[in-house]
Amino acid sequence: MTAPSTFVRACGLSELDEDTPKRVELDGTPVSVVRTEGEVFAIHDICSHANVSLSEGEVEDCQIECWLHGSSFDLRTGKPSGLPATRPVPVYPVKIEGDDVLVSLSQES
Ligand code: FES
Repeated sequence: MTAPSTFVRACGLSELDEDTPKRVELDGTPVSVVRTEGEVFAIHDICSHANVSLSEGEVEDCQIECWLHGSSFDLRTGKPSGLPATRPVPVYPVKIEGDDVLVSLSQES
């Protein structure tokens, strides 16, 4: 059985510029919301390698790059594409309702 919906509003869709991550805090959790390739993704905003904000990195090919050491994380899975990061970063389900971008921190979509 799935848990009750836990989607909360992260930001407005019109606030998001293509390939420009937006950092939001949801229940004290930093989340980077990214609009790219016609979709919106939500990924935990802290690199799995060190305490660095991923939203300050660049977005390309559905990946967000950590600006400090250059690991890129897949926005769909959170998996790093290369060293030095070896652990994935949590990604969160996203729903769009009108102009609202909704994110669920419980990872069950
Ligand atoms: S802090 Fe992100 S790759 Fe090192």
